[in-house]
Amino acid sequence: MIDDIKKHLEKVAQFEAATAEEVENFRISYLGRKGILNDFFTAFREVPKDQKKQYGQQVNALKQAAEEKWNEQKEKLAASEETAGVYGDLSRPGEPYHVGSRHPISLVTNKIIDIFSRIGFNVSEGPEIEDDWHNFTALNLPEYHPARDMQDTFFVQKDPDVLLRTHTSSVQVRYMENNKPPIRTISPGRVYRNEAISARSHCFFHQVEGLYVDKGVSFADLKQTLQFFTTEMFGKSKIRLRPSYFPFTEPSAEVDVYWGLETETDYKMTKGTGWLEIMGCGMVDPNVLKNCNIDPEEYSGFAFGMGIDRIALLLHQIPDIRMLSENDVRFLDQFKNAF
Ligand code: PHE
Repeated sequence: MIDDIKKHLEKVAQFEAATAEEVENFRISYLGRKGILNDFFTAFREVPKDQKKQYGQQVNALKQAAEEKWNEQKEKLAASEETAGVYGDLSRPGEPYHVGSRHPISLVTNKIIDIFSRIGFNVSEGPEIEDDWHNFTALNLPEYHPARDMQDTFFVQKDPDVLLRTHTSSVQVRYMENNKPPIRTISPGRVYRNEAISARSHCFFHQVEGLYVDKGVSFADLKQTLQFFTTEMFGKSKIRLRPSYFPFTEPSAEVDVYWGLETETDYKMTKGTGWLEIMGCGMVDPNVLKNCNIDPEEYSGFAFGMGIDRIALLLHQIPDIRMLSENDVRFLDQFKNAF
């Protein structure tokens, strides 16, 4: 009998529970009403007198050990449940952290801003809903001027004075009205034109326009600045300026960059010429300076403007401009590693 108790003492000492159920089973088998201890207590009557003392001590020792063990295991389990609530299962593999991606329009805009900021241009912004003065009249496009038809305008309600800006040149007017030369600023933003939507054009798109006004600014400065830009932006330094017309610049030019004819895409994009048209530019018309309270006798300036969307299509090989505004995450996710 005594040996039996000793065996149980050892068992109790070694007991470790992994679950609450095991703890409960332990309690039932030792401390329960029909448990092992109860059997030992019942057997007390049959123990020979001379052994009663020792037997009693041993049973009491077993009872104490079982109770202590039970309490200890209960506490241990409760503690581990608490940490599980806070940290979950610490051995579980990590969950991937979803990182967003920048929109290709933002990628291209940021790159352009970065390039021009290195040569002293700041960034200016203005409203997308404009008035006639800032979008047209101040830019040397008075009412009934035929060149207004160059850009099909969306008007807001029936008021011809409230419209969606057709270019960010309106921001340049605002900037000149509020700042004195020297002015070096680029104006990125969304613009709207009532054009048929297709793979190549949309009724809203994005532009970055640039403006430099100071004493003695020349056409040579313009060309040099644009060449710096195309070299940094595309790694292409060969450009040409074709005479063109814009009401707000005189002289005006269209800027082509020599893209090359190395691949089939080059052929397609440049229609077999190797040259790609990327922006319009020119010397700011003296009338525009005057409209913005800048003396054209003292100051001159150049301006340029380009569409971001087509550049984004070009640089990221996107086949359709509409993909830029469809918000399809399968498309957008592909720009995770782009910058
Ligand atoms: N504002 C013109 C456009 O939207 C671009 C431009 C800007 C041309 C500045 C010349 C000078 O097409």
